[in-house]
Parts: sequence; C-alpha cells; structure tokens
Amino acid sequence: MYLRNSWYVAALSSEIAEKLTALRILDENIVLYRTEGGEAVALEDSCPHRRLPLSKGRLLNDHIECGYHGLQFDRSGQCVAAPTQDRIPPSATVRSYPVVDRWGLLWIWMGDAGLSDDSLIINIKNFDNPDWKITTGDALTFACNYLYLTDNLLDPSHVAWVHRVSFAAPGTDNAPLEITETDKGLVVHRWMYDNKPPLFYESLVRFKGNCDRLQHYEVQYPCTAINRSVFSPAGKGGPNYATDELTYMMISYNFMTPIDANNTRYHWLHHRNTDPDNKQVTAAIISGVKSAFLEDRDVLEAVHTGIANETTPHLNLGLDAASLHFRRKLEKLIDQESSVAS
Ligand code: FES
Ligand SMILES: [Fe+2]
Repeated sequence: MYLRNSWYVAALSSEIAEKLTALRILDENIVLYRTEGGEAVALEDSCPHRRLPLSKGRLLNDHIECGYHGLQFDRSGQCVAAPTQDRIPPSATVRSYPVVDRWGLLWIWMGDAGLSDDSLIINIKNFDNPDWKITTGDALTFACNYLYLTDNLLDPSHVAWVHRVSFAAPGTDNAPLEITETDKGLVVHRWMYDNKPPLFYESLVRFKGNCDRLQHYEVQYPCTAINRSVFSPAGKGGPNYATDELTYMMISYNFMTPIDANNTRYHWLHHRNTDPDNKQVTAAIISGVKSAFLEDRDVLEAVHTGIANETTPHLNLGLDAASLHFRRKLEKLIDQESSVAS
C-alpha cells in the first residue's frame, strides 16, 4: 500500500522541539523530539514492555522515559535503563527512524534504515537565491487516501471547476494536455495562449494585459508534487519562453504524507521569482493558497467517501490518463519493494 524506502515530510522543522510529539505515518505510530543539541529523533511510539506509547512518558537527558515503569530509551532506540530490576533486558529496543532537517521541513525515512540516503530528498533550486522567496503555509489534514491528492496534482483541468475564483481562466477547461514520463514520475503540462491571467495571479504577475500560461503538473513517486506556473506577456510564452524580468514563475512543492489509508497530512512550499521582500505579497500567497487547498480538500474528501460507497463502477475520462498511469507504476514499485523485503 505504501512505498516505504522513501523520504516523507513528518512535520515542519519548527514543529518538533524538546518535547515528545506523537505522529502517525504510513500506519505506524512514531514519537519525535529534539535533543538538547537540537538533533531530531524519531522512535517507534510503543514501549516493548506493555506497549504504552512512549509519547505518554517524558524526556530525560535526551532519552525517553516510559510513563508506566520507567524503561529509558536513547535516540537509537536502545534501552539504557530499567529501574525496577538489575539487568536491562537485551530485547528492550524500539525502532528508530532516520530523520533529516531540510528546506524547513523534517523528513523521515520509513523503510530500511540502511538504504536511507539524504541525497534522495528533493532539491529546491534557487532556495538561497535572494531574488526568490519561499513561503511555507500551515499543513492540512485531508480525510482521504493520499492517491486522491496525487490524482489531483496530475490533473490541471480541475482548476476550472474547483478553483473558479483563483486559478481558473479561459482554457483551463479544455486546452489539450501533454503527458511525459520521467525516471521519477509523470508530468502533465500545457501552454494556454493569450488569455486574461487567473484572479489569483492577476496582481502578482509583472505585466498588464493578456498572458501566455504554463501549467506544469509533476508528481514523483511516491507522493511529491511539483507544480510550476509560468506567466509571460501574450506572445512571449510557449516551450521556448523567455526567462526575462517580465516572466513570472511560481513553483509549488507539495508533500503528501499518508497517515493511514483514509487520511493524509499535506505540507507545501511556494517559491516565486518576484518581490522577495514584499510582506503583503507573501501574506496574500499564503492565505490565497490555503483557501484554494481547502477547496481541494472539500472535493477530495467527498470523492474518497463517494468512491468508498459506490455501488456501480465509476467512469474514467481522458484527463485521468496520467493519474491512472501513475497509480499503476507506483503499485508496481510497491510490489517490487515488498518482494525484495520478503
Ligand atoms: S510499559 Fe513501558 S516500562 Fe512498562
Ligand atoms: Fe487544486
């Protein structure tokens, strides 16, 4: 059901502090904290004695002390104290998960720790470029399977109906889509020419009048989506668009972390090539994006329930080609991973 040998976003880095935080990721209960030195730690949230969640205990000198009978575990998951007896039971360990702070996010490796490699964490180009600006919004929990989010992020057409007053514009309902397969996932993209910019972008773009617009929707296995929007003055867009000072770019990075089969934690970053110091623009992007994602949530939660309760098979349309292909390929990757593990 999940690809485990992969990095997932566990939380914003700022959310994990010197206190115990319980999270559920890929159906596993995990406790996170930081040491006094600021290093993040992730352990299985279950004491091996009577399975009290370790998150119900307390932090003591960078160790977790179980809140029932005081077993203590270090950051590697090894039991280092058993106060009720002379000897520490050799089997008293809990699983520890590799974690890395990067891009303001805390990443967790959910598979074989020996295979974790932080060079596999997505690269964010221009992160340190002072002409660009990153915005980080709140995270949202969607009461739906994570694959409804990957479907949605391979489907540029939905903006015409779900985001009528933000991202919709002429062409978003029926301009043809092109699908490309990459070694990491799929890209669906299209250029739409000589239209009014959508409302959300109208005040953000660097020019007046009509635009040429790129929608580039990319999803990488298992569930990272990169959504690149480019707006050029009409006549200047297209595959060889000029990257001059009039071209507006917004790259949205979307990280879906399955909680379980029915719930997903959704984190995102938005990276723009304009107005890096303009706080009003930053605030408008943070709130505008969140409103749009709440529109997605409303639809995707209802789709999850609708499909879970369907009494006849649902239809597929042409626009579903990319998401269906993505799902099939991901399923194969998951099967391959579990056949190697077993
Ligand atoms: S349940 Fe943790 S020490 Fe007993
Ligand atoms: Fe959307």
